[in-house]
Amino acid sequence: MSNWEHNDELIWHPYSSLMPVFPNLPVAGAKGAYIHLTDGRTILDGVSSWWVNLHGHGHPVLAEAIYQQALQLEHVIFAGFTHQPATDLAAQLIDYTACSFTKIFYSDNGSTAIEVALKMALQYWVNTGQSRHKIIALEGAFHGDTFGAMSVSSRSVFNKTFDSLMWEVDFIPFPFTEEEENCLKRFKELLAQRPAALIVEPLLQGTAGMRVYSPEFLDRLFAMAKQAGVICIADEVLTGFGRTGKPFASHYLKEKPDLMCLSKGLTGGTMPFGVTLANQKIVKAFDDPDPDKILYHGHSYTANPLACAVALASLKLLKDLSCTTAISAISDAQGEFAQRLKERFALKRVDHMGTIVSLELPIDPGYLSGIRNELYAFFLDHGVLLRPLGNVVYILPPYCIEMKDLVRIHKLIIELLETKGFPLKPIA
Ligand SMILES: Cc1ncc(COP(=O)(O)O)c(C=O)c1O
Repeated sequence: MSNWEHNDELIWHPYSSLMPVFPNLPVAGAKGAYIHLTDGRTILDGVSSWWVNLHGHGHPVLAEAIYQQALQLEHVIFAGFTHQPATDLAAQLIDYTACSFTKIFYSDNGSTAIEVALKMALQYWVNTGQSRHKIIALEGAFHGDTFGAMSVSSRSVFNKTFDSLMWEVDFIPFPFTEEEENCLKRFKELLAQRPAALIVEPLLQGTAGMRVYSPEFLDRLFAMAKQAGVICIADEVLTGFGRTGKPFASHYLKEKPDLMCLSKGLTGGTMPFGVTLANQKIVKAFDDPDPDKILYHGHSYTANPLACAVALASLKLLKDLSCTTAISAISDAQGEFAQRLKERFALKRVDHMGTIVSLELPIDPGYLSGIRNELYAFFLDHGVLLRPLGNVVYILPPYCIEMKDLVRIHKLIIELLETKGFPLKPIA
């Protein structure tokens, strides 16, 4: 027996039952937008391998960056030492995010980037001698799986087991267009309790179903927060690096966040990595010789040079005209597809922002929707990886996807809607 066959005995997979409904598919390799299985099948990666991959699998420039860096310096303790990939990346990210950040803190993934931001925000108030502890988040939020990140995420199937152990967080309603005024009213009420921070997935909530809300609303929310001294945290773990059509969702805003968390696309989908960027307001509160004012946080692999080097290489690819052109072309095609869906099918919701499109089927809502497995199997049977969020189907492709392949996914979704017999809208 090969070790492949021992997979389910040996390995506990993420978000997976130990009695899996579907077999874990053995992957031999991946190139561009394709994942190659050991049985010879090829799967088109329509979700960028959990929203991380930007330029395609097996990219030679990224592979070379990791290789060259490994020959030079694979890792070194980051307390008391530093290295050029870390300083170059810090300078470039501060410049590229264009939100007046002055310092960057390195960690390992999206959840740790959030933990760091939360600790910075909470300790800001301790260091400045004020008593503020409460965090405000949006209903439907997902910020990760560590305890702080879980606490500021909406209570759901992902975290309800640990409910009694989480901090108390106030959630304001998700700002559907008709709910915006209500959300702002609720936020205003909560401001009276002098909260410490507000955390949002700016403009697009991912795990809640790739649902979109307006930049005008978020500008108003941030403006109110800032007026009341509340620290604004933008979780751009998913929305960063071009997904929303601009480099960052925050670039649609006039009001800039005080802290920003990045991960996923940071290394182009090659290595685990996270960063938290802070502006001068935050930094000033820690700029003090008092040991009690230090941020006591770090990870063994903080600022891993391989991750820094590949992040620099990915950033260079991202800024190249061929990539920005691809992002625009994908965004246009996704926008047209969303429009077609809206005109033709009576769906519960269709959302589009930049390279991402999502559609909510008008049946069996929620992450544990009975239809989810059926949808997943349908797409896989047709050689496409889409991982529906319950009854929500979405496409979040790598930027290297060829237009014919994106159109193939669009046609497949239309075929699915037609075979499932969702009520077609009468043609005007
Ligand atoms: C918006 C957002 N924040 C944070 C996270 C957590 O990132 P990670 O899975 O790298 O811990 C995720 C993961 O999906 C996310 O979508």
